[in-house]
Amino acid sequence: MGKAASKNVAGRFLDWMDERLPVTEFWNKHLAQYYAPKNFNFWYFFGSLALLMLVNQIVTGIWLAMHYKPDAKQAFGLIEYIMRDVPWGWLLRYLHTTGASMFFVVVYLHMFRGLLYGSYKKPRELVWVIGMFIYVALMAEAFMGYVLPWGNMSYWGAKVITSLFGVVPGYGEQIVEWVRGDYLISDATLNRFFALHVVLVPFILVFLVILHLAALHQVGSNNPDGIDIKKHKDENGKPLDGIPFHPYYTVKDIFGVGFFLIIFMGIILLKPDLGGLFLEHDNYVPANPMVTPEHIKPVWYFTPFYAMLRAIPDPLWGAVVMFSAIIVLFLLPWIDVSPVRSIRYRKWPYKVALAIFVISFVGLGYLGLQSGSATQKLMAQIFTVLYFGYFVFLYFYSRYEAKHHYYEPIPERLTH
Ligand code: HEM
Repeated sequence: MGKAASKNVAGRFLDWMDERLPVTEFWNKHLAQYYAPKNFNFWYFFGSLALLMLVNQIVTGIWLAMHYKPDAKQAFGLIEYIMRDVPWGWLLRYLHTTGASMFFVVVYLHMFRGLLYGSYKKPRELVWVIGMFIYVALMAEAFMGYVLPWGNMSYWGAKVITSLFGVVPGYGEQIVEWVRGDYLISDATLNRFFALHVVLVPFILVFLVILHLAALHQVGSNNPDGIDIKKHKDENGKPLDGIPFHPYYTVKDIFGVGFFLIIFMGIILLKPDLGGLFLEHDNYVPANPMVTPEHIKPVWYFTPFYAMLRAIPDPLWGAVVMFSAIIVLFLLPWIDVSPVRSIRYRKWPYKVALAIFVISFVGLGYLGLQSGSATQKLMAQIFTVLYFGYFVFLYFYSRYEAKHHYYEPIPERLTH
């Protein structure tokens, strides 16, 4: 009897597939024989959680789209219809709206991990840069999604953000009109935002996430010690400090998913709008071009940048500063050239600088949610300077670190 005949149906089916599509090869390369450092900690949950949230947004989005129409006359009412009449519609919608906020929570923590352990540094520059493109695409996706319920904050938020293009010298007005498809935010704007939100941007996001993971698996994961595990291998060429991703980290990630889902569902079932933070009160009022909300403000995940925009008196410079705050993050791998990756082996000045950076970013996020009084504006200006100050500091400090070996001794092998 041949070898194939001794296998059961599933085994033979897999053999048949493998001859035509590299299923087992893919499984081994990216999971069963992908060696990841054995010291992954709490911070390494957020990549898989980001994947979970991406899937959640796509799946719930498809179902929402079955009951929604991008029509300025009907959109607001259709959201109410989903919430009240569509069976389980309320759950679908909250999974999507609370999901959007939780997606950003997860992504911000995921990015912060990159700062903590220097994951953006050589050889992972591309992993980081692709991650930054994901972040920008995610912001575009969230912004356009927010317009779809056609509430009053949808309308005015869209108006403020699209007017930003108006600062482009010479062509501003034409660009604004082109983006809106009309002189004002109108049915035409709603239609195009719907098309971009449900087709183009999700497609780009999925594509970028595949690239992100392909780039990561090309070089291998970093870890909390920031040490290269490929330096020490056993006789079979397996890293001594590595363990196969599957089953070790698949199981660990499933635990993370379980824990996360308890929190996620807790918010959805108990306080889905989180007191106006995840879904703003002004968006429970239909869009009205004649009535401006008392404070126009975006959802919390945009407010750090919005606070910067408002902190600068000149609109052109405000926009420049706001966009620079994102661009500078792209450049991080080339700003920080220190050979030490993890914060564990960097000296106190770096720790203090990172803490100030986090305080500034969170502070700006808080200020962006407020009315924007004179004191708040001053605070926002100070935090904006501190935000950019981090990168200026890092530029010089990392060069000093590299030149004078100003860091703690880095162990040869992982410590935990
Ligand atoms: C949809 C959004 C995203 C998804 C699904 C995603 C997914 C992942 C996954 C699954 C990993 C491997 C597991 C882990 O290290 O936690 C990872 C690693 C990484 N991601 Fe993301 N990511 C996303 C967004 C971002 C963003 C916005 C950035 C930064 C700008 C980023 C930067 C990184 C870096 C630097 C690593 C390697 C970390 C290391 O090895 O220490 N990612 N990502």
